[in-house]
Amino acid sequence: MRIDSLPRFRLAHLPTPLEELKTLTRELDGPELLIKRDDQTGLALGGNKTRKLEFLVGEALAQGADTLVTAGAAQSNHCRQTAAAAAKAGLKCELILNGRKPDVPNGNLLLDQLLGASEHWIERPQRPAKLRDLPEQLRAQGRKPYVIGVGGSNGVGATGYVVAMLELAEQLRARQQRVDHIVFGTSSGGTQAGVVLGARLAGFSGQLLGLSIDKGEPELEAYEEEVAQIANECAEYIGSAERFSQKDVRVVYGYLGEGYGVVGDLEREAIRMMARCEGIILDPVYAGRAFGALIDLVRKGMFKRGETVLFWHTGGAPALFAYAKELA
Ligand SMILES: Cc1ncc(COP(=O)(O)O)c(C=O)c1O
Repeated sequence: MRIDSLPRFRLAHLPTPLEELKTLTRELDGPELLIKRDDQTGLALGGNKTRKLEFLVGEALAQGADTLVTAGAAQSNHCRQTAAAAAKAGLKCELILNGRKPDVPNGNLLLDQLLGASEHWIERPQRPAKLRDLPEQLRAQGRKPYVIGVGGSNGVGATGYVVAMLELAEQLRARQQRVDHIVFGTSSGGTQAGVVLGARLAGFSGQLLGLSIDKGEPELEAYEEEVAQIANECAEYIGSAERFSQKDVRVVYGYLGEGYGVVGDLEREAIRMMARCEGIILDPVYAGRAFGALIDLVRKGMFKRGETVLFWHTGGAPALFAYAKELA
């Protein structure tokens, strides 16, 4: 393994805290609940993308890039964190965003602008073409773009979550704490791929459960396969001989409500419960939905009393302010 010699641009405050959710554990009357606070990674209000960007920006700088190009939803946490990483690394940032530019920017979009990113607004189906054309245009102007795919979910980005899983394993070892299940939201797959690979490298034997944010049953097998492929790409990147197939990846679906980015009762209850019981802020799209799913799984008895479940908070709270109407 050669993680220590890979290009890496430090962005995150590590290790992120590992905390007990004592009141919620009592309230839900099920397994013991822990939380890993990757909402506290420290870069421009934090989140899981910080860890991926350490390796992506590391590679961009090693290749002599002067611009980061990426794409996402208008309230993309990945775009906000990429804009912040670019600012810190002295790079320009070009964001390809879905939809129409709103009159008043809010949430992540406001932060994108404060962080100095340029915006390119497109309709969602135009995204692949724009991701090809914009870098070409920048090259024609003499710029050196480094393109980060949606969510930073490739072998390079997933390396951040291999490191994260090794970090968690060390925290658990130091506390002599056993964890039976680790659960987290999963969407473009890089977080899960890194966790799956990191768990194998760390010898973690508990269950790893991705809670699907935007894919339903028909797409599930293909998604699990995609996560396994990212894990394999990552293993190759870090010089590990480990390999994965779809059966090594577990994703739970059934919590999509009205679709991606639409807040329903599940997310509202989860956000309020976490805030009122623990003083911790979830987000409306990812961690809110994932924790809502976890609450439901606890109520359905999926985890035994006496077991310990760790919820990995992947950040995203800036989007809350764009959802004030749905949440107030
Ligand atoms: C806050 C938050 N949590 C979870 C995820 C999902 O992570 P991944 O795309 O690596 O599956 C994202 C992705 O955008 C996110 O912004």
